[in-house]
Amino acid sequence: MKLKKINDLFNATTTNHLETQELGIKFSKFIKNGDIVTLNGDLGSGKTTFVKGVLMGLGYESEVTSPTYTLINEYRTKYNIIHLDCYREKDINRWLNIGLIDYFNNQNILFIEWAENIKNILPNKTKNLFFEVIKSNQRLIKYYE
Ligand SMILES: Nc1ncnc2c1ncn2[C@@H]1O[C@H](COP(=O)(O)OP(=O)(O)OP(=O)(O)O)[C@@H](O)[C@H]1O
Ligand SMILES: [Mg+2]
Repeated sequence: MKLKKINDLFNATTTNHLETQELGIKFSKFIKNGDIVTLNGDLGSGKTTFVKGVLMGLGYESEVTSPTYTLINEYRTKYNIIHLDCYREKDINRWLNIGLIDYFNNQNILFIEWAENIKNILPNKTKNLFFEVIKSNQRLIKYYE
């Protein structure tokens, strides 16, 4: 089976968390070192669920948790996956002090929830996912480069 183009994966709705994970699994085939992926959308719209799928797609077998409180979670797979959540920490100086900029290189792939809170320090070239809650179990997921 031929791999679909990345855009063919999106603009579709998912109707449960497993379908959102499945989309993450498929998306994992398209990422490469140096990518910065922003995940935008309301609380509970499926951003963390999607990243869990990405890690499943990369064969990561241990637990994947939300970075809401830890701010940064790191996972070693064939890629170094850095999962950030900027919801609680909106102070850009704090992120700079933590050393966020040091992650922006070809050794890592970043997934950033609530990236709009730190948009002033993000590189221009990001991949962007938008999660919209349509109904209690329905999510519309869009992708823009
Ligand atoms: N279609 C769906 N896709 C993903 N999650 C769904 C879907 N339908 C229901 N859910 C539920 O919505 C919640 C999504 O939570 P998740 O932690 O992934 O959201 P989030 O966008 O990361 O939120 P936050 O901004 O608080 O970090 C889960 O409880 C999940 O079971
Ligand atoms: Mg989350």
